[in-house]
Amino acid sequence: MPTTDIAEDRPPVNESQGRGRIEINDLRTIDLLRSRRSVVANLIGEPGPSREQLDLILTAGIRVPDHGKIGPWRMQVLGKQAQAALGDVLVQEFLAKFPEANEKQVAFERNRPQRAPNLIVVSSRLNRQHKVPEIEQLLSCGAVCTNLLNACAALGFAAQWLTEWPAYNEAVKAALGVPADQHIVGLVYIGTAAEAPGERVRPDLETVVDFMETLPGSAAPGA
Ligand SMILES: Cc1cc2nc3c(=O)[nH]c(=O)nc-3n(C[C@H](O)[C@H](O)[C@H](O)COP(=O)(O)O)c2cc1C
Repeated sequence: MPTTDIAEDRPPVNESQGRGRIEINDLRTIDLLRSRRSVVANLIGEPGPSREQLDLILTAGIRVPDHGKIGPWRMQVLGKQAQAALGDVLVQEFLAKFPEANEKQVAFERNRPQRAPNLIVVSSRLNRQHKVPEIEQLLSCGAVCTNLLNACAALGFAAQWLTEWPAYNEAVKAALGVPADQHIVGLVYIGTAAEAPGERVRPDLETVVDFMETLPGSAAPGA
């Protein structure tokens, strides 16, 4: 069951930083980061976060590294009516591409944005005139989605970061007011897990991490 238990007995994270050594004073946080799982949107139901909880989630969402203080992201929290309106756009686009679609498929598209109680659309606001490269700005957008997931998990909510076809559809972008030259980087579905997700196979650390004293490139000095 979701909880609003925001531990006020713990010191702010900043108080444990910058002392020249790492204090592992918050095992709950590291456990959360080590164990967070997405829940597929179809299995996310009521209740969703309250407005107060959403504000916490959104505030955590934009607490991301942002080279150049550009704020190259935007979050749109779609209420029920907006979710339904987006569903209508999806049906229109889906039928334009698949005119032979059956009723079940159309119903699925109509309901797609309403699968979970809350839907946050994260899109980019890239500043292409800025000296910070576009890729860095986009990475910051991705970090927003990750933070939203972690904040949801911290409050006991289930969430999933999806793009699916709508994120890449021009009519969907137009309906959401996302300029054609910007990106929808995520549709984050939030609510309560209907069932606990199973574990997902993760790569062994050694397959993705190298501890090294010499550089692997043949041209590298010391190789
Ligand atoms: C940018 C991005 C887009 C994604 N889009 C989809 C998607 O369209 N459909 C899907 O099934 N999973 C998608 N995923 C994967 C899920 O969000 C999630 O990572 C996956 O279900 C594994 O869950 P985990 O968070 O427990 O590792 C996407 C992930 C990322 C990072």
